Amino acid sequence: MKFFSGSAASFPLFVASTWAADFVTSGGQIFTPGFAILDAPQPGTPLGGDTIEVALDVSANGKLNLPPYDPDSPSLIHNITIFLYSYETGRNFTITNGTASENNASLGDIMLSEPGSTVKHVKWTWPDCLIGDGKPDSSDSDRGDYNISIRQSFRLNDEDHYTIFDVPISVTNSIEFVGNNPTCDSVSNPLLTPEEIDAEAANSIGVLFAPGDATVIQQTTGSGAGSMVFEWKSAAVGLMTLTAFHFFSL
Ligand SMILES: *[C@@H]1O[C@H](CO)[C@@H](O)[C@H](O)[C@H]1NC(C)=O
Ligand SMILES: *[C@@H]1O[C@H](CO)[C@@H](O)[C@H](O)[C@H]1NC(C)=O
Ligand SMILES: *[C@@H]1O[C@H](CO)[C@@H](O)[C@H](O)[C@H]1NC(C)=O
Ligand SMILES: *[C@@H]1O[C@H](CO)[C@@H](O)[C@H](O)[C@H]1NC(C)=O
Ligand SMILES: *[C@@H]1O[C@H](CO)[C@@H](O)[C@H](O)[C@H]1NC(C)=O
Repeated sequence: MKFFSGSAASFPLFVASTWAADFVTSGGQIFTPGFAILDAPQPGTPLGGDTIEVALDVSANGKLNLPPYDPDSPSLIHNITIFLYSYETGRNFTITNGTASENNASLGDIMLSEPGSTVKHVKWTWPDCLIGDGKPDSSDSDRGDYNISIRQSFRLNDEDHYTIFDVPISVTNSIEFVGNNPTCDSVSNPLLTPEEIDAEAANSIGVLFAPGDATVIQQTTGSGAGSMVFEWKSAAVGLMTLTAFHFFSL
């Protein structure tokens, strides 16, 4: 039995509200309906540069083993896919769907990247229609407000889930041509309506593994007779600070 004796109580738990969604954050981390914890970017951040970088802890801060998993384990991550979409520009790009496309225009399985590391740094070269600087300069610009949509397919204690976690960011910082920017069409998907996606139903499990969450993770490692059962249980949080604050629209 593994106990999380960490300093949960020393990090205040923030429930941050924004124009679109509430975020549960603590110590700079953003908790999701799944094992992944978002380290960066923070919601509402203006982004640019050569790549967009999404830093995800895929172990619920060390509580879930890293792959390769025991396929029979009661808890594991099947896969994580990430899209970048906007109802304002009508775009829905693939950052990763598990299968790398030519020149990593969209990325392969992030769970296999950086083996041994609980944090996966997903770096994706901006597609060409996002090149520019500043706010969108015309109504047909593809720059502007987007969501990074993190989709987790996982098994928790023998139950399968598929959850959707959207993080608002804006593509307003400078993005230059770096030579291998994929064409937008090569990484585009149809844009579905919120009703078709129904994130609320998908996310009925709620945000997991924030400080104070008592979810017990049952998991096995290895196979056959050598199989070991681990459980992670959170320590009770003695002192918890609840603070609400707002992100301002840019
Ligand atoms: C993710 O895993 C689920 C469950 O095994 C599977 O149905 C789905 O096709 C997988 N998706 C990807 C992109 O691998
Ligand atoms: C981002 O997602 C929220 C729902 O999670 C949605 O209300 C909002 O319109 C999306 N923003 C953009 C720019 O598409
Ligand atoms: C694609 O990314 C993977 C993982 O970072 C890397 O191993 C591979 O060399 C890259 N392929 C290309 C064509 O850049
Ligand atoms: C993954 O995304 C790329 C780019 O959008 C697409 O070409 C490819 O068909 C997708 N693959 C799968 C298995 O969905
Ligand atoms: C974006 O495309 C992916 C892959 O087709 C899909 O699963 C996802 O629901 C789409 N997102 C939106 C907002 O339409």
